[in-house]
Amino acid sequence: MFNRHIGFLDPRGLSSTSEPAVMLESLSGATNAIRKCESGLHLWKFFETPSWKSLVMHCDTIDNILTKYIRKAQDKLREYKNKGLEPKPEDMSLLERFLLSEAVLPEDMQTILLDMMLIGVNTTSHAVAFLLYHLARFPRTQQKLYDEIKTLPAKVDKNMLTSLPYLKACIQESLRLQPPMPILNRILTKDISVHGYKIPKGTYMLIATKLSSLREEHFEDALKFKPERWMHPEIGKEMESMATIPFGHGAKACLAKDLAEVELSLLIYKLLRKFRVEYHYGDIGSTNTLIASPSRALKFRFVDRS
Ligand code: HEM
Repeated sequence: MFNRHIGFLDPRGLSSTSEPAVMLESLSGATNAIRKCESGLHLWKFFETPSWKSLVMHCDTIDNILTKYIRKAQDKLREYKNKGLEPKPEDMSLLERFLLSEAVLPEDMQTILLDMMLIGVNTTSHAVAFLLYHLARFPRTQQKLYDEIKTLPAKVDKNMLTSLPYLKACIQESLRLQPPMPILNRILTKDISVHGYKIPKGTYMLIATKLSSLREEHFEDALKFKPERWMHPEIGKEMESMATIPFGHGAKACLAKDLAEVELSLLIYKLLRKFRVEYHYGDIGSTNTLIASPSRALKFRFVDRS
């Protein structure tokens, strides 16, 4: 987004007042507040509940950081303009591209960036967590994936990564079992009929997509982690259609599906090349909230391969 290494994984650790630490704390604080606001009665619509106040406070903190980045990006673009230079697309961050594009109104920029951060961070971390968990739980699958990854050079590009069929299958299978957004929502724009139930226009609908992903009628041994099921292109296509839609569907589907798949592939590629991943504790489940979260700590052991 900013074309910048933020430093969340700095091996020296983060000082509690550093920008990455404040950003992380605000992101997790805002996420927890969203979870509370979304569940149960939406009392925050009538008065300022503690969760609502917490959400506003954390979003304000993130907004302040975003404002700084937006100003920096605007300064950079102004400098280019003053010098009569044309910035090369490959040197520009997503934010700078947004600023140049007429598709995004300047007043919407802050909201879009905040949305992207909140959605992007939560979904990607959940997806990575469960992919590591599944690979750690199934050492033979992990070894098979490692054998595939080993065939690539140390420096890879996006096309090389997305051409690895087993890696893609592992990602699809892990997202099927534990989608980061297990429930989608829509407000009906017309009357519909589902299994004989007539549902009128304007109804707020929750769509339990994870339940559909786990149905035996769609997937044999539906509760098992079996990436092999995605290796047959024909079957994969058929299964992918609607039975499992981890990135949603239609006009409101995830805007960053490709980006997310590249991020996941790159991270797993880098980790597995260096480490074998192990997990030695109890089963990890996931909540059925709009933004899911793992039910217990992610205590992975990374064993150096060298
Ligand atoms: C594995 C990672 C991800 C998964 C599984 C995922 C999944 C989803 C899902 C299920 C939706 C709702 C779709 C619907 O209602 O039909 C969504 C929307 C969205 N996602 Fe993602 N997402 C991921 C990563 C990301 C990332 C990294 C970003 C941003 C950098 C992002 C940005 C968005 C945005 C902006 C929307 C809202 C689209 C709209 O309302 O029009 N997502 N995502």
